[in-house]
Amino acid sequence: MRLPESPSLADYRRHIERLAADGLAALGDAAGLDALEAARVEFLGDRRGQLLEFQRALGALARDDKPEAGKLFNTVKRQLEAALAERRDQLGRAAGAYRRPADLTMPARPQWRGAKHPVTLVIEEIAAIFRELGFTVALGPEAESEWYNFGALNFPADHPAMDMHDTLYLRDDVLLRTHTSPVQVRTLQRYAPPVRILAPGNVYRRDFFDASHAPMFAQIEGLCIDEGVSFVDLKATLGHFAQRFFGAARARFRPSFFPFTEPSAEMDIECQLCHGAGCPACKGTGWMEILGSGMVHPAVLEAAGIDSEKYTGWAFGMGPARIAQQRYGVGDIRVFYDSDVRFLEQIAE
Ligand code: DAH
Repeated sequence: MRLPESPSLADYRRHIERLAADGLAALGDAAGLDALEAARVEFLGDRRGQLLEFQRALGALARDDKPEAGKLFNTVKRQLEAALAERRDQLGRAAGAYRRPADLTMPARPQWRGAKHPVTLVIEEIAAIFRELGFTVALGPEAESEWYNFGALNFPADHPAMDMHDTLYLRDDVLLRTHTSPVQVRTLQRYAPPVRILAPGNVYRRDFFDASHAPMFAQIEGLCIDEGVSFVDLKATLGHFAQRFFGAARARFRPSFFPFTEPSAEMDIECQLCHGAGCPACKGTGWMEILGSGMVHPAVLEAAGIDSEKYTGWAFGMGPARIAQQRYGVGDIRVFYDSDVRFLEQIAE
């Protein structure tokens, strides 16, 4: 079916549509790269390709028909070229033409393998600072007796902390420790002074689960007992710690009360979330309490079998979750317990 010498627009359209159908079929069905090349020469070849005839025929058309025919020509040409490229790509992929040898020097794609929890990171960092000062790590049981948790720590027998509302009892005399301070007593029963220990661990309280409280949380207990230890040592050591851990952040001591220390002090650091301006995390005060401390009460030393005339010392208990909040700018403590990897990924080192 040849194009007439002087085609009408209708002739031109009929013939070029026919050519398009044939060409698309030949290119699209080409069984291999050789067949594809043959189809290309047949339809798109620039010496004898079938499309050439239509390019030439444009000149023979009536003047008014030329724009329309030209558009048709261009459309068909683009369709055929696209079909050629697509089939070449398919055949090339199948033949492995794009497969390059593996580059063994390429860096591997990173794979998320999990990470330490932010509270664990903080505990490790704190332990490293105190290790340099000669502290070793000591551990104690989470299921504790009333005596270790309260009695030996100089809590009066009717202290409200022992109430069922605050303490989780497993059995009559077995409770989940409400703080890490019983490790002080257990350590002093086993080791003679000088003693310098750090005791990280989980503690439990019957508490609401809100932005600043959790029913289970980590604590780190510290204890230093020797001859001639004074409040100066406490303040200097904890001040050193604050500076090492928080850098330039301001820290302050406030008088406080605990049954197992006398005198007692709490240490605050300037809230790192609002830099002292006041925010929900610091309850608008601009300060965040990070630890309780004090000179170990002679009654505690005596309960543990230590001569309180000869030895003195100081202790502290701090909240690593609070500290992690400050370190990582986390307003709500609950995210530490959600195990949401999107959160953990942000902090992971
Ligand atoms: N055990 C206290 C608590 O859980 C914290 C604490 C305060 C521990 C003063 C200490 C200390 O060793 O000296 O709130």
